[in-house]
Amino acid sequence: MIEIKNLSKAFGEKVILNDISVDIKEGELFSVIGPSGMGKSTFIKCLVRLLRPESGSIIVDGQDIASTSNEFALARVRRSFGYLFQEGALFDSLTVLENVAFGLKYLTDIHKSEYPRIVKEKLALVGLKDVEHLKPSELSVGMKKRVSLARSIAPEPKYMLYDEPTTGLDPVTTGMVKELITDMREKLRITSVVVTHDLKLALEISSRVAMLLDGKFVEAAAPAEFRQSENKAVKEFMEISGLSRE
Ligand SMILES: Nc1ncnc2c1ncn2[C@@H]1O[C@H](COP(=O)(O)OP(=O)(O)OP(=O)(O)O)[C@@H](O)[C@H]1O
Ligand SMILES: [Mg+2]
Repeated sequence: MIEIKNLSKAFGEKVILNDISVDIKEGELFSVIGPSGMGKSTFIKCLVRLLRPESGSIIVDGQDIASTSNEFALARVRRSFGYLFQEGALFDSLTVLENVAFGLKYLTDIHKSEYPRIVKEKLALVGLKDVEHLKPSELSVGMKKRVSLARSIAPEPKYMLYDEPTTGLDPVTTGMVKELITDMREKLRITSVVVTHDLKLALEISSRVAMLLDGKFVEAAAPAEFRQSENKAVKEFMEISGLSRE
């Protein structure tokens, strides 16, 4: 479980996250939606301390990672997270096998003779086979997403963070990624946080959706309830996303 209490983050004078409190429970798929530049990536980066918040606490499995300077505790918590970066971030000079095995090398004690078997298994989970020897430049955009996802799940994280998982993808690939995220939650029971500006996606896959606006979550509710929100900003976001209240 991830317990976020009074989380605040600013860049200089600019307050991005302003006193946010929310609990993300085991098995949940919690989505954060909101316009570009609102701080969605900032939020997700705070969860693994890629960014250090000014104040508040983020308690992951009993360990507060917001302010700890205990590197061991931090490393242990980070190991329980998989992170699908907004930019994908595969290493161009490494093969698919080396990319997917990357986290195994740095985050686990698994012997490297096991890598090919594990990589094959994770690639199969994301619907790929016989691509181990290819380089990222030889893959389609959708395949790259799948490989990135295989890499994130290879060390068997307890939590997954997805930053804009479908941005820039065609509708077919978007559908595939949507299915993959749902699968990761259902098959592997991974507690997930998705940040996206795709409200339609969020409403389809999430157990709860929150809208980030001016540093706050203005609504954090189950999709059906979110759709009925009386909040002006939520209503507007629904409208510009082409969604009706029903
Ligand atoms: N390291 C940084 N230093 C200074 N400002 C930053 C830094 N990272 C982000 N910001 C600023 O914080 C704000 C929130 O950025 P963030 O990337 O979290 O937004 P976002 O909601 O993820 O946007 P997008 O939908 O475009 O990905 C932006 O105004 C951005 O310019
Ligand atoms: Mg972002």
